[in-house]
Amino acid sequence: MEGSKAGNSSGGKKKRGGKFRRAQLRNMLLTKTVDRLMRGRLRDRHLKQPIELREVELAVPNWPRAFEGLRVGHLSDLHLGHLMPVDRAIELVERLGAAKPDVLACTGDVVDLEWQGCEPLLEAMGSMRAPLGRYLVLGNHDHLDDPDAITEAARDRGLLVLAGGVHTRRRAGHEFRVAGIDWHGTPRELSRMVHEVGEARPHLLLSHNPKAFPAAARLGIPLTLAGHTHGGQVALRDRPQANLSLLHRHSRGLYSRGGSRLFVNVGAGAWFPLRRNVPAEIVMLTLRRA
Ligand SMILES: [Fe+2]
Repeated sequence: MEGSKAGNSSGGKKKRGGKFRRAQLRNMLLTKTVDRLMRGRLRDRHLKQPIELREVELAVPNWPRAFEGLRVGHLSDLHLGHLMPVDRAIELVERLGAAKPDVLACTGDVVDLEWQGCEPLLEAMGSMRAPLGRYLVLGNHDHLDDPDAITEAARDRGLLVLAGGVHTRRRAGHEFRVAGIDWHGTPRELSRMVHEVGEARPHLLLSHNPKAFPAAARLGIPLTLAGHTHGGQVALRDRPQANLSLLHRHSRGLYSRGGSRLFVNVGAGAWFPLRRNVPAEIVMLTLRRA
């Protein structure tokens, strides 16, 4: 049995606004032009960097006993576009699917700029075998072009796009509840959004922005999954928390607050072709009751 309550209506096509044009200009100046001057070597070097499939065991207090050992395939920040060709992204989805997740959780930034062309990737995600559901929340880059179009395309292909919604699945008579909130940049608005979905007492919360975590912890939500920071993309070799994600306290990996846990995925892709000591990743989480 399953049920869902999802927000975010799908309206008409929106015009590309100033944020899209600024991101396009930044991409042109910092990536495409430099790459052209280097005769394509910048992009080639970036694409040669391996993307790790990381197995992570997480002990989570209050994790439901009935879902002990649940495997969550966590994808984030693919940034489909110039630095992430669609074939490479689909291969990542297939690698994650081969690791047999119970749940697929994608925490946004599916695309870097234009949404067109992401349909085959959404198709791969939507057809992954994940018996307890395939979930997506949008990131800030997904909002640059046409978030409604991505949402509709994802839903048409079997993904549950949670934008202020809670989805409930049952296994052997036990409920498993997944909540997701849409992109927002401010802690205050994120807190409001978390409180809205928190009433349904979700076990798992998806939020592109890790700044949702303090509110999730106040409500005792056992586990929050996030992305967005890319782990700063550049970090000191032996101090992963010393990185360029200066605006985020929670920039990569695992964090605890009371009985709640946050896992921040450093992402599979990037909008800028540089990573040092922050290898790109896709993650398979195995959840244990602490
Ligand atoms: Fe991102």
